[in-house]
Amino acid sequence: MGGSIGTARDRDVRVTTLRDQFGRTIEYLRISVTDKCNFRCRYCMPLEGLPWLPKADLLTYEEIGDVVSQLASMGLKRIRITGGEPTIRPQLDTLIRFIRAVPEVEDIALSTNGVKLPELAPSLAAAGLDRVNISADSLRRDRIVAIARRDLGFEPIAAARAAQAAGLGPIKLNVVVMRGVNDDEVVDFARLTLDNPWHVRFIELMPVGSLEPMTEEMVVPSDEILARIQDALGTLTSTAGPARGNGPAAYTQLQGAAGTIGVITPMTHTYCGSCNRVRLTADGRLRTCLFGDHEVDLRAPLRAGQPLAPFVVQALAEKPEAHALLSRRVGGLRALSQVGG
Ligand code: 5AD
Ligand code: SF4
Repeated sequence: MGGSIGTARDRDVRVTTLRDQFGRTIEYLRISVTDKCNFRCRYCMPLEGLPWLPKADLLTYEEIGDVVSQLASMGLKRIRITGGEPTIRPQLDTLIRFIRAVPEVEDIALSTNGVKLPELAPSLAAAGLDRVNISADSLRRDRIVAIARRDLGFEPIAAARAAQAAGLGPIKLNVVVMRGVNDDEVVDFARLTLDNPWHVRFIELMPVGSLEPMTEEMVVPSDEILARIQDALGTLTSTAGPARGNGPAAYTQLQGAAGTIGVITPMTHTYCGSCNRVRLTADGRLRTCLFGDHEVDLRAPLRAGQPLAPFVVQALAEKPEAHALLSRRVGGLRALSQVGG
């Protein structure tokens, strides 16, 4: 059943393309390096934090590098480093160097809340990081603090400029849209793409988990987001989007704009059919879907010196065809900060 390789005979598996039982090619790994964060975004993490993983449970950078190099020999090509907030784990540049040394890896991206980018962008770029996605839910100081519930002096525009100056483009800005909280800033964010070569992506809020009450009414459907932008700024034309990194976003562009506008629509459209990704949790589990309980532990075999291929094949065999978020049924969700968004 499933998995990628017809001849899989547990041990000496030689896999060159990772494919799941629905024919989806898996070449993209999201790696969570910590479950902790310096923010407490209302839609993501409780104010008091979470029961953090003990340090001994976290994969070391060497171990993550080992996972990447084994998966790369099986067809993995693109990496995204996530968290929690990845930049709060010390010496992140060391991990980036390890991953950069794996020849099959074509693209290394980082998803960050941007707080530490002005400080870290140059050293991350020097270590071999290709590009960053920055979470920015508001352009207004008071609101950033109200959403993130920590005042760390975060300035999204300054973070994006610092990343761009360090060569970490194309820059993507991710905006989780919440009705009554920041939906009145959609046009301001869209306007940024006129003069900046940035890709602003509006994400439909997922009111999941047992966090700060996030209700269905707070979800702003992507059609409404795009309509508001068109009303204010003119026609949006479909475009292929940024050259590097393809995921679930659908891109459009304002006339003459330097950047693009994307929407990510977990609540109104499914994109599971083209899902090309798996996730590695900070404690070393391979998670094949953001939702549901599909995890296979890689840490134990890794620490026992066993090859990972059979475990990876098993995980892919169990990758579900789709999640049930559209029908509003999601089970087994850990906080998104724990599974790397
Ligand atoms: N709804 C939508 N996106 C979320 N993220 C985290 N929690 C949610 C949620 N409830 C995503 C956003 C954010 C990133 C860190 O994780 O993209 O920018
Ligand atoms: Fe931290 Fe990102 Fe979650 Fe906000 S959304 S609490 S920045 S991990």
